[in-house]
Parts: sequence; structure tokens; C-alpha cells
Amino acid sequence: MQVTSWDSHKEPFMYPHKEIVHGGDVLSAMEKTGRSALLDFSANVNPLGLPESVRHAVIQGLEQSTSYPDPLCRSLRCALSQYEGVPHPYILCAGGANDLIFRLAYALRPKLALLLAPTFAEYELALTQANCRCIHHMLREEDAFLPRPSLVQEAENCDLVLLCNPNNPTGALIDPALMEQVLDTCIRTGAVLAVDECFLDFLPNEEEHTLKKKLEHYNKLIILRAFTKIFAIPGLRLGYALSSGTELLRKMDQAGPSWNVSVPAQLAGVAAIKETAYLQKTRCLIATERAWLQEALSALGLKVYPGAANYLFLRCQDRSLSEKLMEQGVLIRDCSNYRGLEPGYFRVAVRNRMENTALVRAMKECL
Ligand SMILES: Cc1ncc(COP(=O)(O)O)c(C=O)c1O
Repeated sequence: MQVTSWDSHKEPFMYPHKEIVHGGDVLSAMEKTGRSALLDFSANVNPLGLPESVRHAVIQGLEQSTSYPDPLCRSLRCALSQYEGVPHPYILCAGGANDLIFRLAYALRPKLALLLAPTFAEYELALTQANCRCIHHMLREEDAFLPRPSLVQEAENCDLVLLCNPNNPTGALIDPALMEQVLDTCIRTGAVLAVDECFLDFLPNEEEHTLKKKLEHYNKLIILRAFTKIFAIPGLRLGYALSSGTELLRKMDQAGPSWNVSVPAQLAGVAAIKETAYLQKTRCLIATERAWLQEALSALGLKVYPGAANYLFLRCQDRSLSEKLMEQGVLIRDCSNYRGLEPGYFRVAVRNRMENTALVRAMKECL
């Protein structure tokens, strides 16, 4: 990343109220190390980078940006309807999955929500801001951080169950039979079941795990998806929700400002979903590189947990691993600030062979 208008050698440039808790914070790492370039394994973005057609669409979108974006995202929702095989009224587009998470919290204003722990921190942040109490299904190291059957009972009294599949940071998939039981419980109690499937596109067998096929069965099921990671556009901000509960989608739409999906983002989305060869190449690359990286890191004595996403979750005796790697210009995600984790847990993205080799080499230096 090139920084032009801001000098990293001066005072740290922070909001007094804002602590950065996620991966991908390359600028803070530049501030800390004084380096102008870092290899970023802390954000789980497609290593193939932006598809060429998406780059063109963004440029075209820029030229059309003298007009407001279509607030109904008509072209994008039509394209998504074909791509996902769901009717367009079941689709709500937004400025990234995180926009949808906050809109969901404010549209529903649930009293009690069930989350996994550890999981993506923004769920709890959004829900507590909407005055919701969160309870947690604590994932345990001895279960390889897989959810247990007790998840079903814990869902009983909640008005919202929000699950991440595969989970971040563990990469673990929820057993489809267990997911089905949770869905049955929600149908019986009337709770909303929200499933964040933002990393499911990286899997060759995503059809076995998506809850898309259940959308028609239950109108309080909502699936969150994003273009962010799979099409390598975190800077553009584009995500969408799928639900047959069109009233819920309407409330989510109205829970935040209009025009939240820019013209370049809408055009990028239309172009991206035509990229079938890119998607196939991505899935092959991730499957191969995931296996390679897992083996290489295990050979260094790191404990790598089983998972399925485009990142690996690992444990290292040396709790300062990420700091040491940062000194070498490599950024990984220290997971100690996730609820339910302690220092010593880390997450690394799966990237291309050259970058993965550089990561393994840097790790060897540190361990
Ligand atoms: C599980 C999960 N969901 C949602 C998001 C946010 O996605 P977006 O950048 O599309 O808002 C992230 C970002 O890291 C994530 O890990």
C-alpha cells in the first residue's frame, strides 16, 4: 500500500475513541515499524487480487459518479438474483457485510442474541449498541473450536441467533446436521437465524454448507454475504443479504442511510459475478495453498486447527509471534482480543505460493 498524503514518521494518527481491533490495519503497522511496505496475512482477501473486469467496471463507475447511485441497486440485484438463484425481492445490497450486521441489529433490536465465541467482533459490537444482551456458545480448544450440540439448547430463549460459517477466526464449519437443528429450533421459537457466509465462497463444496436452500422454508432466516474477500475489494464496500423475509429486509434498508452502495461498487458487483473462471481458479488455489501452508506451519511446531476457509487458525507457544513477524515486515492477526481467546492464538491468510513461502521463512526466523 502506498501512503502519499500522510507521513508515517510523525505522531500516530488516531481517533481518541477508536481502537482498531481487526486485521488489515497496515497503516498502524507502518507507524509502528517505520516500514513503507508490509506483507499482509492479517486480512483474508483473495490473493488473486482484483479481476480485470472489476477494475474496468470501477473506472466506468467513477465516470458515472456525478450521479447518485441507484438506491434500489436494480442492475446488481437482478444480476445477483441469477447468480444466487433467488428472486430479487429476497436481496438487499449494502456497503459491505458489516453494514448489514449493524442494519440487522438496529432493524430487529433483539433483546437476547446467541453468538459463538470466539467470532467476528462486530456482531457483539452492533448488537450491544442496539441494547441487545449477547450470550455466547464458548468454543473450546479440546473440541478443536467446533460448536457442540448444546448450541441447540442455548438457542432456545433467544430472539436472534447469529452464526458465522465458516467461523472467523477459527475457520471451522458448522456441521450441517447441527445447523439444521438450530434452524428447527429457531422455526419453533420464532427467532431470527442469521448466518454470515462471507467466507463460504472460497470452498469448493459451498453448496453443501450454505443455508440458501432453506430461505423459502423460513422467512426469519437471513444469510449475509459479501464481495469483499472473494473478489478482493475490501476498499469498495459491497455486501448483500438474502432472505425471503422481505419485511425484515425493508426494515434493514431503512435502518441506515440511503445511497450506501456507491456507483463504482454496484458496477463492480455486476462485473464480478460474471467472473466464473476467476472463482474456480480461486477455489483451486486456496485448496492447494491451504494444504501446503498448513503442512509447512505444522512442520515448524505450530498447532494448526482444522478448518475450511481461506485462512488458518493456529496456536504458538511464543505469544509475541505477531510482533516479531511485524518487525520482519509480515503482518498476521494476533487473536488475543477475541472473546474466548487468550494470547498465543493467531490467524494467517492463505495467499499465493511465493507469499506463503515468505511467511514460512519469516516464521522460521522468529521461532
Ligand atoms: C466473518 C466476517 N463477516 C463480515 C466481515 C465484514 O465484511 P465487510 O468488509 O464486507 O463489511 C468480516 C470482515 O473481516 C468478517 O470476517
